Amino acid sequence: MTAFLTVISHPLILHKLTLMRKADTSTAKFRTLLKEIGMLLAYEVTRDLPVKYETIQTPMAEMSAPAIAAEKKLVIISIMRAGQGILDGMLELIPSARVGHIGLYRDPNTLVVIEYYFKVPQDIEDRDVLVVDPMMATGNSAVAAVQRIKETNPRSIKFVCLLAAPEGIEHFHEQHPDVPVYTAAIDERLDEHGYIIPGLGDAGDRLYGTK
Ligand code: URA
Repeated sequence: MTAFLTVISHPLILHKLTLMRKADTSTAKFRTLLKEIGMLLAYEVTRDLPVKYETIQTPMAEMSAPAIAAEKKLVIISIMRAGQGILDGMLELIPSARVGHIGLYRDPNTLVVIEYYFKVPQDIEDRDVLVVDPMMATGNSAVAAVQRIKETNPRSIKFVCLLAAPEGIEHFHEQHPDVPVYTAAIDERLDEHGYIIPGLGDAGDRLYGTK
């Protein structure tokens, strides 16, 4: 589809995703699984983080050892509310990451995205951003979120989701061809309400038990 799309089809992620898809998976289990997948996605999408060598002392000898450069701290921006599930997992693995939130909702009739909240770290210009949202369906929220984040001029942006629809990926890449997308799976299609088929239902409702 495009060089800027990575499907992270690791068996652990796929197994956990299958459990999340099942309609009878409980809210508690769904939440735990999304957090675990968030950790695994963080592991994959941070592969290219630069490291700096520092001299340390082990119990046996002095050595030059790699560590993530302090100034490279990431910003993870959660698209509320379902993005919180991935964010929680990523923070377990990268506790020093800075965090931003963007609140968007889809008008149920027009599917147009409306922003109601935006807060990101002040020094975002010096930082790399991971935007997280489990579902890339129409791609409208992802496009709007990244558009808004670009206005703050971060050093780089990656978009990380769990499930994507082909229509959403195409739309996103038309609007943001410079932003790489990472997903665990690409499903068949969208239904007439903009839900991913076969998907897993409404990620926010399943995460918080609101339906
Ligand atoms: N958002 C969801 O939570 N699920 C979908 O299938 C599409 C958008």
